[in-house]
Amino acid sequence: MSQRIRAGIWGVGSAVPERVLTNHDLEKMVETSDEWISTRTGIKERRISEPGEKTSDYAAAAARRALERAGVHPEELDLIIVATLTPDMFCPPTACIVQHKIGAVRAGAFDLSAACSGFVYGLDVAARGIEAGAYRRVLVIGADLLSHVTDYTDRSTCVLFGDGAGACVLGPVEEGGVLSTYLGADGSGGPKLTVPAYRSNEAAVNGAASREGTFIRMDGNEVFKFAVRVMPEAALEAVRRAGVAVEDVRLFIPHQANIRIIDAAAKRLGISGDRVFSNVHKYGNTSAASIPIALDEAVEQGRISPGDLVVLVGFGGGLTWAASVLQWTGERVPRA
Ligand code: COA
Repeated sequence: MSQRIRAGIWGVGSAVPERVLTNHDLEKMVETSDEWISTRTGIKERRISEPGEKTSDYAAAAARRALERAGVHPEELDLIIVATLTPDMFCPPTACIVQHKIGAVRAGAFDLSAACSGFVYGLDVAARGIEAGAYRRVLVIGADLLSHVTDYTDRSTCVLFGDGAGACVLGPVEEGGVLSTYLGADGSGGPKLTVPAYRSNEAAVNGAASREGTFIRMDGNEVFKFAVRVMPEAALEAVRRAGVAVEDVRLFIPHQANIRIIDAAAKRLGISGDRVFSNVHKYGNTSAASIPIALDEAVEQGRISPGDLVVLVGFGGGLTWAASVLQWTGERVPRA
């Protein structure tokens, strides 16, 4: 009998803009305060891309780092998935632009739209494809420039969001890897978080679209309640499907939206703070990029070692949620 193929992460990378927008900068833009933002969200600063920069620029930079750490050449990739709600433009898909930028000439490429849950959705598709024997090397990217859809006159949203990208290369592994995934959606809650129309960066540069209707609008309280409920539920379901126990999980890497949401979810799961990863203070909410950026930093900081159980859990527009349990296999090319 042939042995089951398992999928795992071979390498991780991320890329964020250099420009920092602090809470104090925002105090000059809207009626807010560092104190309000810090206590309500845990965010101190976020990264903002330069005019003319595109989601694919950061996606490609994150991808190159992930490929290096995976020891994979771009031409070896079979598939590229870019999870984003801020594509460069409607067509071509950002994944195809990235494919060209990195020279992944053999790879199929498509965009995936599942808002902040998009990266874990992509991880599921990649892992299932590898397990089925359909693909051997898959690049999954979560990339968003939320500054393109943020209304910097609306204090209830503009303090929350930032820009960035994170990427993983997946391939077959002997043991461990992606133990489980769990995806969910509730379209009835869609109106709670919307971007009614999208003004692509290209259109913005050419002045081809008005800004009306192109911003994130959100019922913050409702999304907060949804997140606090769904994060622990999704994590528990992924843990159950993996056949492991919450106590055995080394690190929880939640979507970085708000430290109060992360703390409340951790409390409901009974997880101590030292087993929860957070960098929301540095980047704010970067949507599909937040989990892979956090994973990259967790690896960089030595927070996970081969054999450790890691839970990724996200939620967002849709409404959507997604969780995955990984048994960390280590990157193919160890970091210096
Ligand atoms: N600075 C100062 N005051 C602000 C403010 C800001 N940036 N934003 C809102 N306020 C005000 C409100 O106007 C309100 O004033 P009022 O009581 O006079 O009406 C007050 O602060 C409280 O607002 P409220 O919405 O109740 O605050 P909150 O504690 O719920 O925190 C969020 C607001 C947005 C931080 C919180 O609801 C949240 O994080 N929600 C989830 C958002 C999210 O994660 N979205 C992305 C999902 S992927």
